[in-house]
Amino acid sequence: MCGIYAYLGPRNGIKIALDGLKRIEYRGYDSAGIGAVIDGKIECYKDVGKITALEHAIGSLSSNNVIAHTRWATHGKVTKENAHPHLDENQSVAVVLNGIIENFQPLKEKLASEGIKFKSETDAEVLPHLIAKLYEGDLLKAVREALVLIHGSYAIGCIHKDHPEELIVAANGCPLVIGVGVGETFVASDSNALIHHTREVIFLSDGELAKITPEGVEIYDATMAQISKKTEQLLHSVEEVSKGAYEHFTLKEIFEQPQTVRNAMLSRFFEEYGTVALDGLNLNVNDLLEMQRVLIVACGTSWHAGYVTSYMLEDLARIPTQVEVSSEFRYKNPIVPEGTFVIAISQSGETADTIAAVREIKAKGAKVLAICNVQGSTLAREADGCLFLRAGAEIGVCSTKAFTSQLVVLSLFSLLMARMRHMSKLEGQQYLHALQKLPEQIQSVLEAAPLIEKIAKKYSKYSDFFFLGRRYMFPTALEGALKLKEIAYVNANGYPAGEMKHGPIALINETCPTVALCADKVTYDKLISNLMEAKARHGKIIAIVHEGAKGIEEVADDVIYVPDTYDEFAPIITTVATQLFAYYMAKDRGADIDKPRNLAKSVTVE
Ligand code: G6P
Repeated sequence: MCGIYAYLGPRNGIKIALDGLKRIEYRGYDSAGIGAVIDGKIECYKDVGKITALEHAIGSLSSNNVIAHTRWATHGKVTKENAHPHLDENQSVAVVLNGIIENFQPLKEKLASEGIKFKSETDAEVLPHLIAKLYEGDLLKAVREALVLIHGSYAIGCIHKDHPEELIVAANGCPLVIGVGVGETFVASDSNALIHHTREVIFLSDGELAKITPEGVEIYDATMAQISKKTEQLLHSVEEVSKGAYEHFTLKEIFEQPQTVRNAMLSRFFEEYGTVALDGLNLNVNDLLEMQRVLIVACGTSWHAGYVTSYMLEDLARIPTQVEVSSEFRYKNPIVPEGTFVIAISQSGETADTIAAVREIKAKGAKVLAICNVQGSTLAREADGCLFLRAGAEIGVCSTKAFTSQLVVLSLFSLLMARMRHMSKLEGQQYLHALQKLPEQIQSVLEAAPLIEKIAKKYSKYSDFFFLGRRYMFPTALEGALKLKEIAYVNANGYPAGEMKHGPIALINETCPTVALCADKVTYDKLISNLMEAKARHGKIIAIVHEGAKGIEEVADDVIYVPDTYDEFAPIITTVATQLFAYYMAKDRGADIDKPRNLAKSVTVE
């Protein structure tokens, strides 16, 4: 939510920062701005809309010390005034902020009572005023003293007109990565935006500040003691963060799934024993055997992955499993009995509600396993263990490849738990074999893209859909419906098919089609009966069904066949088809697929 980019070095930082902003634009794209020290003054340009609008406004300006920001509005409407950077009254200090200053109201009132006139409605604007007030010639000191006064989660970048060779950055609860180049330094909210320039990075931890000058990077902890921090190496490739020949990142990421699913399994199989070896679990055999109950917390698509896992862990490993939306869970005063093991799922590892839920759980003494995609993310660092997805950077705002990788990693974990309890070696080997077939099965769904596109075009003018499924297909239906809402802006309800007669069936008529997810074999016949009920009310039916299923063509108007697998893994295969359906619907409706309106990739505010 909001992205920061900054540059200090001999090149034109404005060009570099604009390019950097485009790479993190998925974090927010309401408005953008750039601030630079030029000839002893701060020049500041802002605009509503995409980065390209800002680029045109700036023209050919040049500076060696630049901060930049792309915004997702929290406090204050989407206006030029509310866009960052924010400046003090004398235009000496400029600040970009990602996050929220929770106590901005009393601070703003106090500053206003001292005669300071605010230009925006944002919480962030208090910061440049505070820094300017505390400034006595030492910018780092003034920033640090201002940060002591604010509460909240944030990452900031700050420049001063009298310090052309100094850039101050700080982080507390929001990600900030410093890219160390040769004679130049970059700062970004996401390491993916640095990889074009350098692989040497420093992840700022909570409470840390950095003073960046041409001489290098000095890091300070919250007490202002200078600390030494090792640089880390970024492992992903430049290709991973480019669109290649694809029209959208979302499409590229959907098509990457045979490979990303393969990566999620790579060197994690222990075939001889029909089990898996999970590097990063950081738990001993006793921890795993003493696990009596699993609690899963997550948001959005990750929550749907957790929902599928709750069926799987109970089915395969017979471990009672509860799944909770983090934003609700954190306010429940949760009961976390002894023997509870917690799994926190987050692609980004930065979702504020999931991190807050994890902190609450850890305070109650439970162990937390993170399922993350992003190296160095807050969740990955704070959890007791972390299993990485290895899906590569996911740039499209709606999650696609991360979801299927989450399901694979969580299937491996469920299998491990099952094998440590009652599952036989042979059965374990059969499950491993089914997992091994997934990449090629996903490939065959991708090959059906022209058919799915044709069906999506046929239905693209409809504005209300149901996604129905039972058992493993119910959370899959939730995810399918979410994709349609997110990228095609179409109202879609994911529902357990058996519940339709308790109310929602009242909405079924010829204008409200149903996407029926039929690949759960245990409940297949029951689902067909539910579909008959919808058909009897003139509802159109698009079925996604496993090959070899009988009787579907008599019920459905359109059928997409997907390869057969265990019910536990069917969500992985079926989801690829629902992703393509949502993508082609969105494309036909002319939606902004990679950056859907009102959304952001990482929700780092509550
Ligand atoms: C945002 C994204 C979703 C994502 C959710 C949870 O809403 O737009 O795609 O599923 O956050 O994100 P996480 O990084 O925690 O998985």
